[in-house]
Amino acid sequence: MLIDNIRDDFAKLQQEIASGPIVPNVSAEEIRAYLGGRYEFATRMSLEHVIADIEKMLQTWQVQVTHPRYFGLFNPSVTLASVVADTLVAMYNSQLANWRTSPAANEIERHTLHWLSSKLGLPDGSACTFTSGGMEANLSAAVVGLTHSFSGYGEYGLRGLPASPTIYLTKEAHHGYNKIAHMTGLGRRALRMVATDPQLRMDVHDLERQVIDDRRNGFAPFMVVGTAGTTAVGVIDPLPEIGRICRVEGLWFHVDAAWGGSAILSPMLRHHLAGIETADSITCDAHKWLSVPMGCGMFFCRHTESVAEAFRAEVSYMPGKQSGPVRDPYTTSAQWSRRFIGLKLFMALAHHGESGYVEMIDHQATMGNVLRHSLTNFGWKIVNSTPLPLVCFTRDGLDTTKFIAALHERQIAWMSPVEIAGTPAVRACITSYRTTEPDIHWVVNEMNRLADEQQSFRQEARAAAIPLEETQGVNA
Ligand SMILES: Cc1ncc(COP(=O)(O)O)c(C=O)c1O
Repeated sequence: MLIDNIRDDFAKLQQEIASGPIVPNVSAEEIRAYLGGRYEFATRMSLEHVIADIEKMLQTWQVQVTHPRYFGLFNPSVTLASVVADTLVAMYNSQLANWRTSPAANEIERHTLHWLSSKLGLPDGSACTFTSGGMEANLSAAVVGLTHSFSGYGEYGLRGLPASPTIYLTKEAHHGYNKIAHMTGLGRRALRMVATDPQLRMDVHDLERQVIDDRRNGFAPFMVVGTAGTTAVGVIDPLPEIGRICRVEGLWFHVDAAWGGSAILSPMLRHHLAGIETADSITCDAHKWLSVPMGCGMFFCRHTESVAEAFRAEVSYMPGKQSGPVRDPYTTSAQWSRRFIGLKLFMALAHHGESGYVEMIDHQATMGNVLRHSLTNFGWKIVNSTPLPLVCFTRDGLDTTKFIAALHERQIAWMSPVEIAGTPAVRACITSYRTTEPDIHWVVNEMNRLADEQQSFRQEARAAAIPLEETQGVNA
């Protein structure tokens, strides 16, 4: 069986990655020269040789996002079941564009999505689709929201509308909305930045004010994006209040829960997502906190007919056209040819069960708390506030750029820089179900040592009156 071949390789690779470096040190020139010298494709190579070479490149020339000390940008450690699923998908090459070609695959996706849709509190029969990622799901929300809100949008586009539509979000929302505003023809200036409170949550009074002002000035407000787990700091916008304003003002309420949405499975965390069930549409990525390989985004929408209208397509050449309760995915989503994206989530859910997922999610939330407490105990300042496992921190005099560079160079952990209200900080997100408490304590100890070293180096430099710029890059 396939699993017998993959299980050992998967376990071995996990071990190798966990005990190896996290951050590569390589230039584009080096890789290009390597590829150019070996792969002119003029001669045939044995597959074994190519596989070995690719594995060597991937093991040495990438940030190992499945490393237990990768505290990064929502890229998870993946589960065996989801890896086997992706292999099966490639082997069968199921085409999900129309239902009749892949009935089993389409129903497996439908079954999985509807299970999650009901967890999110959306009504039965809501439209759900797997997407390439959060970006496609958020783009789908904007397109469906426009279609729902402006009857002429589909046929005549934005130029047929009497007023310019506007979208409301905070500067903490994902920056993909800039591209979405660009791609939909709304224009980047259609994005209205709503003020935030001191915790960086959307200020709903400012939202109300801006909507009223825009209407008075001849714009057509149509959509508010509330984020559940912002990318930089993990904040959850006040979803119930935003939902209420959207209902009163007749606005489309999109919840971008690309990362945080998976917390809906956790009895310990789900109350933080209260209000998500009032959304018109939701983005949630399984390739973030549900620990499956990329790309596995999901788009949920309570307005089935608006989704069908937004993505309708009339063609004669698609075989076995479906209608009624069974819809062809190419007529209900942005993609046409469709990979069997959802199998990895289906198989991982079937293998681990809901309880296994609750354990994985709660474990990561607990590791986030361990990191927060340990940093606080050692005098670091936590500069964000979220119940999710994303910790932003700094300490007096820390040069975050130098600190993070040294963190990577010494292979202590992968963390990233972030700026909160103009203050630079270090961002660490627990994204691996394999991160343990000893990992965290080891990392914090190493960070303490590193920060002390860098501080005493700066003091010595100052005492010796060495101009600070001469110390750049030293002591990495
Ligand atoms: C809140 C949020 N929305 C959307 C996205 C985009 O998701 P993807 O990278 O899967 O397209 C991200 C990515 O991190 C995100 O954090």
